[in-house]
Amino acid sequence: MKIVEANGARIPAIGFGTWDLRGETATTMVESALEMGYRHIDTAQSYDNEREVGRGIAKAGLKRDEVFVTTKIWPDAFTGEEFRRAAQESLERLKLECVDLLLLHWPSKEVPLAETIEALNWAEASGITRHVGVSNFTIAMMDEAVRLSTAPIVCNQVEYHPYLLQDRVHAACRARGMAMTAYCPIARGKVLGDPVIGRVAAAHGVSPTQVTLRWLIDQDGVVAIPRTSRAERAEENLALDFVLTAQETAEIDGLRSKNGRLVNIAQAPEWDV
Ligand SMILES: NC(=O)c1ccc[n+]([C@@H]2O[C@H](COP(=O)([O-])OP(=O)(O)OC[C@H]3O[C@@H](n4cnc5c(N)ncnc54)[C@H](OP(=O)(O)O)[C@@H]3O)[C@@H](O)[C@H]2O)c1
Repeated sequence: MKIVEANGARIPAIGFGTWDLRGETATTMVESALEMGYRHIDTAQSYDNEREVGRGIAKAGLKRDEVFVTTKIWPDAFTGEEFRRAAQESLERLKLECVDLLLLHWPSKEVPLAETIEALNWAEASGITRHVGVSNFTIAMMDEAVRLSTAPIVCNQVEYHPYLLQDRVHAACRARGMAMTAYCPIARGKVLGDPVIGRVAAAHGVSPTQVTLRWLIDQDGVVAIPRTSRAERAEENLALDFVLTAQETAEIDGLRSKNGRLVNIAQAPEWDV
């Protein structure tokens, strides 16, 4: 399994996304994902599944330091006091002594970043999390976070897949030693019907999803966190032992555009592209 090194963090390049996995499905999928070799689990308070994800982690029975666990705090808990409480509640639900990475899920339009970063740093200093990071931040916001934080910011988790150009954010992450974690890495299934990706997949005897994930993690400092509710697909998404040619990589690069964003919510910032 490829590891991305980012400001002291060692992040498995393929993680298992858990958005929208609920109840028993979340538990069994996390347990089987870990059994089949995933070593990185991505959850969030807003996914309302931390308890079930934690149960899956416990059932897999791995040593704690073998699994990289990320969770995220939603901006409605970004004041200092609320953030501290929210971070502790995540650990209680996950039944872990610490997470590996704690992220600010989206930037807040209300609470000054300095206040939230101070609380995030407290979470790192008090051992609630080993590393800290941000999600859905613009480059200017990333810079502000880096300037304010005493703990290194190890990643910006953003939407990235073959239909969305993220060159500027990617370059900015690498220039600051950060990973760029790609969410919606298979464009929520859109890559399945793509003729270019389909042709590359056929040439290697693999699926369009596999081609897309290989293409993503071949990029410097990029981590991908695909989600599935089906064990056979989770297994498929981890089987990436093939090599894309420079020509194939360039063809997939060429699919990206500034308008391919799938996730935009009310509190989204003015994106860099
Ligand atoms: N930070 C943020 O704001 C943010 C935002 C969005 C997502 N995320 C994180 O990123 C993760 C991934 O993003 P996502 O869940 O939105 O989208 P995604 O991983 O790009 O796509 C998930 C979809 O693809 C299907 N799929 C997965 N593997 C497949 C395969 N091998 N063949 C065919 N279909 C397949 C799944 O269906 P089945 O379940 O039916 O297999 C599901 O409908 C999330 O789970 C979450 O952890 C973070």
